[in-house]
Amino acid sequence: MRTYEKPVIQALRSGLMNKFAAATATQRQIRSTIAGVSVDDLVEQYGSPLFVYSERTLRRQFRTIQSAFATRYPDVTFGWSYKTNYLKAICAIFHQEGAMAELVSKMEYDKAKALGIPGKQIILNGPHKPFETLQAAVQDGVTINIDHLDEIEDLELIATQLDRIIPVGLRLNLDAGIQPCWSRFGFNLESGQAKSAVQRIAGSGKLRVNGLHSHIGTYILDPNAYARQVEKMVQFGYEIEAQQGWRMEYLDIGGGFPSRSRLKGAYHAADVLLPSIDEYADAICDALWQTLQPGHTPKLIVESGRAMVDEAGTLITSVCGTKRLPNGTRAYVVDAGVNLLFTSFWYHFQVALAQPVPGAAEPSVLYGPLCMNIDVIDEQISLPPLSRGDRLVISTVGAYNNTQWLQFIEYRPNVVLVAESGDVELIRAAEDLTDLERREHLPPRLALPSNSNLTHLLTQTGGQ
Ligand SMILES: Cc1ncc(COP(=O)(O)O)c(C=O)c1O
Repeated sequence: MRTYEKPVIQALRSGLMNKFAAATATQRQIRSTIAGVSVDDLVEQYGSPLFVYSERTLRRQFRTIQSAFATRYPDVTFGWSYKTNYLKAICAIFHQEGAMAELVSKMEYDKAKALGIPGKQIILNGPHKPFETLQAAVQDGVTINIDHLDEIEDLELIATQLDRIIPVGLRLNLDAGIQPCWSRFGFNLESGQAKSAVQRIAGSGKLRVNGLHSHIGTYILDPNAYARQVEKMVQFGYEIEAQQGWRMEYLDIGGGFPSRSRLKGAYHAADVLLPSIDEYADAICDALWQTLQPGHTPKLIVESGRAMVDEAGTLITSVCGTKRLPNGTRAYVVDAGVNLLFTSFWYHFQVALAQPVPGAAEPSVLYGPLCMNIDVIDEQISLPPLSRGDRLVISTVGAYNNTQWLQFIEYRPNVVLVAESGDVELIRAAEDLTDLERREHLPPRLALPSNSNLTHLLTQTGGQ
C-alpha cells in the first residue's frame, strides 16, 4: 500500500547556486544509527528524548588533540574542563586517557574527589574558591590559579597557618586580538595589574608564583590568537623570573578550540570555517619555541573542553505534535527543547531524520516541549512532512548541554554511552519526582487534606 503524499507547490531551484556556488541542499540526512546502534532500539529501551555518547568518538577526539600537541612539544598535559561535561563516565574516560581535572567550583572539586582524582591531578581555576576549598586544595597539592586579590589574601593566610610557602599560578587576562576581550577573570596584563599582583605576592613572602594561566575565550577561530597569547605569557613569565627569581614551571593556555557546532550568525558550515587542530597546535607550539629560552620547556597545560566532547554527544528527540502557524509556516513540537539544549541559544545543530520520510521538504520551525515562547530549537529548518512519533537525531551536543541543562517543566531524560564494544550503558538515569522533591520541605501547616476534604475546601472558598 502506498501512503498518501500531500501535494505542494515549491519554487524550482534546479541549477541555481547559492552564494558559495554550491547547489542548495534540500535532502535532509538520514541517521538511523548512532555509534553503530539503531536509533529505534535505543528509544525502545531508553525512551525519548535520549542523550547518546560515543566512547569511541570521545577517545578518538582526545587522542587526536593530544597527539597534535605531544608531537610538537615535549611536555603537554590536558586538563579536562569539568564544566563542559561532568557526567562521571565522561570524566572517567578522559582521566583514563591521562587528563587532569580542571575545576572551577567547590561542587566540581567535590565531584573530582568523589571520582578518586588525587590533588596532584587537579587544577583549580575560577573566580569563586571558598576558603575551605582552597585549604583542602593546598593540602591536596592541587595546582591553583589565582583569580583575584582576595584569593591572594586567603592563600597567604593558609600559608601562615601551614607555616610554609605555597606555590601558586596567576590567571592573566590579556589582549590576544579576540573580541570581546575576556577581562573579568584574573589579572590584566597590559594595564600592569598582573605585575602589581606579583609584587604584592613577593612582598608578603608567603606565596611563590610558579605558573601562569589564561583562557582567551571559547570557539576561537583564529589559531594566531593563541600565538599572541603564548608570546605574552612567556614574556611575562621571564619578567617575573628576572624580578623575583621564580621560574615558570607551567603555562596553562586554557581551552577555546571550536567544535563542529555552527555559531548562530556564522555564514559557513563548520567544515568550511574551522581550522584543523594541527593549525592550533602549530601556532601554539611555534610561539613557544620562538619565545622560550633554550633548554627551558615548562609544562604546557591545555584545557580544551568543547572540542574534546561536543562531537561525541547526540540527542534523539521525537515529534509530539505538528502545527501550521497562522502565516502558513509548518511547525513541529518535539520532546526536547532548550531545557536540554541550552546551547541552542548560540549554536545551530545538525538535525538528521532517523528514518526516511516521504514528501517534499518545506521550511519549518522546531519547537521544544516547554510552555514557554523561548523554547525554539531551530527557527528555520527544511523538513519533509513529519508525523507524530517520527524521530530526529540532533548533533553535535556533547559540550555544555549536560551541565547547563535545566530541570525546568520537564524531567531530564536518560543518558547512555555506547561503549567501544558496541554495548549500551546507562550513565545517567532519567529523573522522576523523587529527584525533584528530595530537597523540598512542606511545612506541616501547609499540608493539604485528602482529596474529598480538598474538594469541600475548594467549594467553600469558591475554587474549583
Ligand atoms: C578556565 C577555562 N578553561 C577551559 C575552558 C573550556 O573552554 P572550551 O570549552 O571553549 O574549550 C573554559 C571555558 O569557559 C574555562 O573558563
